[in-house]
Amino acid sequence: MTINSLTAETREQVDRFLEQKLGTLTLNERLNQAMQHGVLLGGKRIRPYLVMTVADICGADKQDALRASAAIELIHAYSLIHDDLPAMDNDDLRRGQPTCHIAYDEATAILAGDALQTLAFEILTEQAMHQLPAIRQLQLVHVLAKASGAEGMCAGQAIDLQATAKTLTESALEQMHVSKTGALIAAAASMGVLCGSSEAQQWLPQFEKFARYLGLAFQVQDDILDVTGNTEALGKPQGSDTASEKSTYVRLLGIEGAKERLQNLHNKALQSLDDIPYNTDKLEQFSDLLLKRDH
Ligand code: IPE
Ligand code: IPE
Ligand code: MG
Ligand code: MG
Ligand code: MG
Repeated sequence: MTINSLTAETREQVDRFLEQKLGTLTLNERLNQAMQHGVLLGGKRIRPYLVMTVADICGADKQDALRASAAIELIHAYSLIHDDLPAMDNDDLRRGQPTCHIAYDEATAILAGDALQTLAFEILTEQAMHQLPAIRQLQLVHVLAKASGAEGMCAGQAIDLQATAKTLTESALEQMHVSKTGALIAAAASMGVLCGSSEAQQWLPQFEKFARYLGLAFQVQDDILDVTGNTEALGKPQGSDTASEKSTYVRLLGIEGAKERLQNLHNKALQSLDDIPYNTDKLEQFSDLLLKRDH
C-alpha cells in the first residue's frame, strides 16, 4: 500500500466534484483554464483525505465532508500557484507540469489563485449542508479562513520569504512550518470533526493536536525530499530550497538531524491519537504511509 493507493478513492471523488464545479465557469476561458491547470492536474489530495477520514470517524454525512474537502483543496491549490510565482519561490515545475505562471502568465496565475481562494468559500456556503446546522457551516468557513490567512498559511509564507538566506532558531523555524503548512493540515482535521456528530465535537482539540504534529512532520519531510528526492518523482524541482537558500530543517539540522526530528514528530502524532476514544487506525495508517512517500 502506498499513499497514492490509500487516497485513490477520495482523489476520485474530490476530482469529480472539482471538475464539475470548475466546468460551470463560463465568463473568462483563459482564467478558467488556468484555474483547472492549478487544481486538476495531479496532487496527492492529502488534505481532502484527512477531512474525509476524520469526518468518517466522527459520523459525518459524506456529501458534507466532500464539500469541505473540495474547499480546502482549492485553498491549497491557490497557495501552490502563488508559492511558485517569481516573487515567491520562482519555480517552473509543479505536479509534473509547467507551473501556472509558465503555462499562462503571471497576472493570470495571480488571478487564478485569487479566484480559487474565493471559490473555496463559495462552495462552503452555496447551499445548506445535508446534515449540519447553519452554525456548523459558519464554523467551517471560520476555520478555513483563519488557517489560510494572516494567522496561518499567509503568515508562514511571509516568514518563509523573510527567512531566506538567514539562519533561524529552531523555534522560529518550527513557527514558520506550523503556520505555512501545519495550519491548513490542522484545519483539515478540524473540518472533518465539524462535519461530524454533535457528540464528536468534544474531541476537536484532540484531532487538531494530532494534525498539528502531522502537518509539521509533513513540512519537515518536504524539506528533506527537496534534498533526497528526484525531480521526476516529486513533480517539482529537486534542490529548489538549496538553490534559493531557503530556511529549512535540513539547512538547520542536516539530513540526519532533520530525519530524526521527522521521526520524533511522527511518533508524537501517533501518541496524540491515544487521546481520541474512537477507532483511529486509518489515521495511523495515513501517517505511516505519508512517512514512506517519495513525493
Ligand atoms: C506541497 O503540498 C506544499 C507543502 C505544503 C509542502 P503537497 O505535497 O500536499 O502537494 P500536492 O498537493 O500533493 O501537489
Ligand atoms: C509551501 O512550502 C507551503 C505553502 C503554503 C504553499 P514550499 O515552498 O516548501 O512548498 P513546495 O516545496 O514548493 O511544494
Ligand atoms: Mg515556498
Ligand atoms: Mg515552494
Ligand atoms: Mg518545499
